[in-house]
Amino acid sequence: MDIDVSKFFNTCLLFVATIVVAKLISAFIVPKSRKRLPPIVKGLPFIGGLPRFLKGPIFMLREEYPKLGGVFTLKMFHKNITFLIGPEVSAHFFKAPESELSQQEVYQFNVPTFGPGVVFDVDYSVRQEQFRFFTEALRVNKLKSYVDQMVTEAQDYFSKWGESGEVDLKYELEHLIILTASRCLLGREVRDKLFDDVSALFHDLDNGMQPISVLFPYLPIPAHRRRDQARKKLAEIFARIIASRKSTGKSEDDMLQCFIDSKYKDGRPTTEAEVTGLLIAALFAGQHTSSITSTWTGAYLLSNSKYLSAVVDEQKILMEKHGDRVDHDVLAEMDVLYRCIKEALRLHPPLIMLLRSSHTDFSVTTREGKEYDIPKGHIVATSPAFANRLPHIFKDPDTYDPDRFTVGREEDKVAGAFSYISFGGGRHGCLGEPFAYLQIKAIWSHLLRNFELELVSPFPEIDWNAMVVGVKGKVMVRYKRRELSVSH
Ligand code: HEM
Repeated sequence: MDIDVSKFFNTCLLFVATIVVAKLISAFIVPKSRKRLPPIVKGLPFIGGLPRFLKGPIFMLREEYPKLGGVFTLKMFHKNITFLIGPEVSAHFFKAPESELSQQEVYQFNVPTFGPGVVFDVDYSVRQEQFRFFTEALRVNKLKSYVDQMVTEAQDYFSKWGESGEVDLKYELEHLIILTASRCLLGREVRDKLFDDVSALFHDLDNGMQPISVLFPYLPIPAHRRRDQARKKLAEIFARIIASRKSTGKSEDDMLQCFIDSKYKDGRPTTEAEVTGLLIAALFAGQHTSSITSTWTGAYLLSNSKYLSAVVDEQKILMEKHGDRVDHDVLAEMDVLYRCIKEALRLHPPLIMLLRSSHTDFSVTTREGKEYDIPKGHIVATSPAFANRLPHIFKDPDTYDPDRFTVGREEDKVAGAFSYISFGGGRHGCLGEPFAYLQIKAIWSHLLRNFELELVSPFPEIDWNAMVVGVKGKVMVRYKRRELSVSH
């Protein structure tokens, strides 16, 4: 018995000694940085946090942020995804050069949709030049001519509504935005003659981007086969249009023309395939994002009489000043409407998760003063949907309060550049932001001036399952034509 007790005692002693020695070794031998790795989200062996991530990344963030703070790592199989939440820790995410944090690997799944030779299929130096083409195609002088087309499209579209009636606003705005986008971006030929064909092909491209496509973009499933066929047909259609414009020397005011006329630094013009790919990328970047935002804007305005009156009053003032004229400069004066759109977009950014791949180690300091080292090889993520509702930045973050952006409050700026991130920011901030605002303002100013509107379905829920997160179900609205009375 005595022998057993002393054996047990010796074993315990050995066990404790081993732990102490292991701790000492790890303190002295293991590099210091290891001690500052971000905390890890609890998960299952091997698959790690996959089930929780699949349940919805925002639900996971809501659970983990209060426990772990703004920096933590989610393990999935052999991958580490480190989240940087809040402007205090996300600056590097937005500002780092491509050599340190890159998009190419994490956004590869777009390649079969956009096509070869563009955006994430090319080296950063070429991609940078292609983004320069986007920047040029979206300059103010170009935007001015796009606005005229946006206004005409809205007028034509809503002229088909009756004296009064009930519509699904979500469907209507989706449809109007694809018409407008095809006019401004894809060009007159597509808008006037090929709209049905091209939008059916875009529909197939769209359906070819499923959540599974992010992990396995080339999986031989019917949706991917249809996507590939649609892409081929679109390339043929645009090749014909481009050839015809080139042979007749006809030039138009659209993004297609800008891309046809674009040249790389070495003087090389864009190829037909590149022009097609860039147009598809533009449509993918701007279409769902804008139509979702215009629907949320409507849902909030029609549920908040204070802001609905404020935007209607603003329209009256502008009509007194400019009559019926709506152009780029008149839209630029719609500050109240701008803030109402911006606030809908704060609460519902359609791109809920932004990703990068890290190629160098870097460190971040949280607002509590904790320092963490993020090793190279991690995927780094931030989330507009979560960060845009942080209570230490936005007062009553779940409340629709467009006045939070007024001078004196400016909650989108006071905590630093990356407080409001619906359009990303820094090095890869959205190039289409002004275009998107102009388009949504053009639509809503027309609706406010010409219709009395009432939301008749319940306030919409969020469709978390979509790739570009939007509104779930229909948004039924009752309308009645009106003319705003203004004293000239
Ligand atoms: C409400 C509408 C829109 C929203 C919410 C939105 C959001 C975003 C976000 C969050 C990013 C950054 C992605 C990242 O950092 O990984 C981005 C990038 C981009 N967006 Fe938008 N976008 C919108 C409309 C548009 C439109 C209309 C266009 C073009 C016509 C456009 C073109 C682009 C381009 C080219 C980039 C890539 C910039 C770069 O990587 O340097 N977007 N957008």
